[in-house]
Order: sequence, then C-alpha cells, then structure tokens
Amino acid sequence: MAGQAEKVFVPTDDELLQAQSDLWRHSLCYLTPMSLRCAVDLGVPTAMGLADWFRKDFDGPVPSPFEDVHGAAIFEESMALLDPEMDQLIHDAVAAHDHMGIGPVLRQCSELFEGLETLTDCGGGDGTTARSIVEAYPHIKCTVLDLPKVMDKVLLPAEEGAVKYVSGDLFHVVPPAQAVLLKLVLHFWSDEDCIKILAQCKKAVPPRDAGGKVIVIDIVLGSVSAGPMLETQHLMDMLMLVMTRGRQREEKDWSDIFTKAGFSGYKIVKKLGARAVIEVYP
Ligand SMILES: C[S@@+](CC[C@H](N)C(=O)[O-])C[C@H]1O[C@@H](n2cnc3c(N)ncnc32)[C@H](O)[C@@H]1O
Repeated sequence: MAGQAEKVFVPTDDELLQAQSDLWRHSLCYLTPMSLRCAVDLGVPTAMGLADWFRKDFDGPVPSPFEDVHGAAIFEESMALLDPEMDQLIHDAVAAHDHMGIGPVLRQCSELFEGLETLTDCGGGDGTTARSIVEAYPHIKCTVLDLPKVMDKVLLPAEEGAVKYVSGDLFHVVPPAQAVLLKLVLHFWSDEDCIKILAQCKKAVPPRDAGGKVIVIDIVLGSVSAGPMLETQHLMDMLMLVMTRGRQREEKDWSDIFTKAGFSGYKIVKKLGARAVIEVYP
C-alpha cells in the first residue's frame, strides 16, 4: 500500500547456514539414486556409483573419476586447455560459493582474527574471502595465493588496499603471514598431499607463542549426529570421491594429518552448519 515502508527480511546466521546446507543437499541429491543404481548394476550392495570407474584396472595411482574422464585433476593448470568450458564453470561455481560461507565465520569467530595483522588465504580463488575479511577487520593485511590461471582472471591490481594477489603453487611456497587460511581446500587432496600443503603453511607462519597458526575451514564428518546436515556431509564426501583424490574427514583423520605435518596441536573453534573452523598450532 502506498506510503507503507517495505519490510526487508534479514536471515540469521543459523538460517544462512541451514540454507547453505539445504542448497548443497538439493544440488547433490541426484547422487543418491545414482549410487543406488550403480550398486544394483554391480550387484554389490556396498558399492557406490560410477560402475565403469570401479571396474577399471589402473596402473599406478588411481585417478578420480573426474580425472579419468577429463585427463586432468579438477584444479590443475592443464584443465584450462583440456576443457576450458568445464574449467570456467568450476571457477565460477567456486567464486559464487565463496560468497556464502565467510559471513557467519566473520560474525561468529571473531577470536580467530583478534591480534592478527597479516593473513595468507591459500587457494583463496578470486579473493572474495580476503576482501570480506579486510572489510570486517581493516587492520589485517591479506595475501591471496592461487594458481596463475585463476590470478590471471582477477581483474584487479596485484595489490589493492590491504589485499595482495600472488600467483603460485601451495605445494611449493606459501607467502609468509601470522596466519594462513585454508578454506575448503584440504578436502580436495589426499592425506599425503594435505601433509605436504600443511608443511608449507607451517613454514609460512611464526611459532605458536608468536601467534602463528593455520586456520582450516572444512567439513568434520560426524560433527553433526543426524538429519539433513549429516546427509549433506556424506554427499560432499561422495563429491570428493568423484571429483578429486580427497575426501571429507572425521576429527581423528584431521588430528592425524596435523600431527604428521609437524603441528603441536589444534582446536575446533566452532562448528558452523556442515563445516567446522579449526585452529592448528605450529
Ligand atoms: C574449492 S576452491 C576453494 C576456494 C576458496 N578458498 C573458497 O573457500 O571458496 C580451491 C582453490 O584452490 C586453488 N588451488 C588448487 N590447487 C592449487 C595449487 N596447487 N596452488 C594454489 N592454489 C590452488 C584452486 O584454484 C581454487 O581456487
């Protein structure tokens, strides 16, 4: 009615997290019937999806089904040449997805950023997360590290205000900072690769008593005990099986790889929806 102010609905963090989980579950729910169909095809009730891949004999390391079809792993530099359309789609999807996840972390985990002056967002994509962090905590200087093919598409100066963009490979060198962030990165990699990545992150941060830490934001399987959120976690695990050599991990798996990478301890700071925020100490 004319003259009446329009009401704006502002969702709470819990509603946002629930919405993210629902979105993952709805967009991945096709995997459930796909898995059942394959289990029937194989005649093995415990088998999940992807019958051709399961039947193949591979020499050497087993590629993920995605790698087997496309000839490269999901984020490999060569994907841009082998299948440019798929490569673009993946990066657009990651950038869009990135917008959703960081808000609740900034609002509900302020202790993560207290006393922090520098932070490297490793595998930070187009810098959406870093820019949100700097907006919320303007005293923090952020460096975003990602592959050259991603950085080449960032249409911003190499350094913009408190955010600096660096092309590189997180297996080789991580730009030094007081803290390194790995947000939805490690679940793409095998345990051996996670240990290599974490070892590079450890080199990049100062000792624990000087405030050094690695912040891991990823799923901790079993952090929720039942219901759609748990289903989401397992569907994300299936997605990793199909697309990557990685997986979702239980707390014990995380603890093992942190120890093997040389870290002295860790703390689950907060469970946020399907994911958790973990501080890992050198
Ligand atoms: C799933 S995305 C996560 C992006 C972002 N951190 C987020 O939370 O949405 C993984 C990111 O890691 C980057 N990446 C993959 N391999 C890498 C490597 N070897 N060195 C640096 N970045 C890499 C990818 O290009 C991609 O941007």
